[in-house]
Amino acid sequence: MTSFTRRKFINGVMVAGAAGVVSASADASATPIAKPSVSPSELAEDEAFWRTVAINFDVTDKITNLENGYWGIMSTPVLQEYQRLTTWVNRENTNFARWNLGETYMGLRKQVAEFLNVGTDELALTRGATEALQALIGSYNRLSPGDTVLYADLDYSEMKTAMRWLADRRSVVPVKVNFPEPTKDKPLTEEDILSFYERSFDANPRTRLLLLTHLNNWTGLIIPVAKITAMAKSRDIDVILDAAHSVGQVDFDIKQLGCDFVGVNLHKWVGAPLGCGVIYINKDRVGDIDTYMAKTPGSYKVTARIDTGTVNMAAHMAIPKTLEFHNQISTTNKEARLRYLRSLWVEKARSMKGLTVLTPDDPTMVAGLTSFRLDGVTTTKANNALMKRLATEFGVLTTRRTGPAAGDCIRVTPSFYNSPDDMHKLVDALVKITSEL
Ligand SMILES: Cc1ncc(COP(=O)(O)O)c(C=O)c1O
Repeated sequence: MTSFTRRKFINGVMVAGAAGVVSASADASATPIAKPSVSPSELAEDEAFWRTVAINFDVTDKITNLENGYWGIMSTPVLQEYQRLTTWVNRENTNFARWNLGETYMGLRKQVAEFLNVGTDELALTRGATEALQALIGSYNRLSPGDTVLYADLDYSEMKTAMRWLADRRSVVPVKVNFPEPTKDKPLTEEDILSFYERSFDANPRTRLLLLTHLNNWTGLIIPVAKITAMAKSRDIDVILDAAHSVGQVDFDIKQLGCDFVGVNLHKWVGAPLGCGVIYINKDRVGDIDTYMAKTPGSYKVTARIDTGTVNMAAHMAIPKTLEFHNQISTTNKEARLRYLRSLWVEKARSMKGLTVLTPDDPTMVAGLTSFRLDGVTTTKANNALMKRLATEFGVLTTRRTGPAAGDCIRVTPSFYNSPDDMHKLVDALVKITSEL
């Protein structure tokens, strides 16, 4: 080891001089995941494989957790790496940060950029998607007074608030449009969504900015972002994309979606510690987002578009281990498995009287996250009661969602450690509940 590399090798965490990449520790705890060479749909039903995955997650046995949409439980290897880095960062303190933080973050950005298939100069790390998206919405600078900014009922609450706030900040007119509501006999189709956006654009011809949520947190609907964005761009409308729930859950390429401004987190479906997000700006569009609170005027760097303050460095530094674990499974296989687990309850639920599944079965429009509503049960109070009943009487954790214009619903979100038995437990509960209607 040269004196240079020795200097950069501190307590098991190597900050490589050139790349600035934090090496992952060798961990004794990890159970290797041997992936058979079969198609994603075959692997989705290979319980032996998914049991090997599940062994890597330490999950409560107090309840069957089908509410994995809030954030993702870290795998044990990632958790241990995060704990190790927390101890290390705390111990080294500024002896690390003052010398090596810049190159460490450069290395982390490079790895995340490779994972997202975008340029390193097109992203900055954030604490989550909210922070990234609010910076994009608040700092998008191509709006003129009187323009319309469009968002939908199925967008995330904090981003809806940010879009409404643009009325004060930019003197624009925020307009909320409500997605068509599926019925029991007629699930939403891609055509429904495209014509919904076409109608919304026609009705609001001054629209210049559109917020899209790739996979929304209320019903799990995946929208055809590339097609909507192409339609928007042909009308000179820019799109800000909320990809908080799609990265890691759905296999897609940011560049192919055609969106220039995207907010992401890595702590839901990629499995990073809480506090890991990304702001992405197409490198040709960086100037269309103001530098953050005019902090560094004239800068053309994405990193000047956000100010996260002193972040939880250990969480960000655990990203390489997170990606290593994630890549052992892959997004495609995660997506197929989640859709399979989802099908185990949805196929049964579709035929239950008095219950409507709100998310379509078309595989381009859904992954793991899906919501249902008992017919006519639209209030928050009633859905809270249903969520509580599922938990206390049947031992199944779900969550009540208040967002869709047509009323509240119950969201069901399995994860990689869930088994078909977990899904059957939910089905048994729904059979009992609907039999009483
Ligand atoms: C659609 C959507 N957007 C954004 C967020 C916020 O993400 P974060 O926790 O990373 O700020 C969430 C979180 O649940 C979400 O579901």
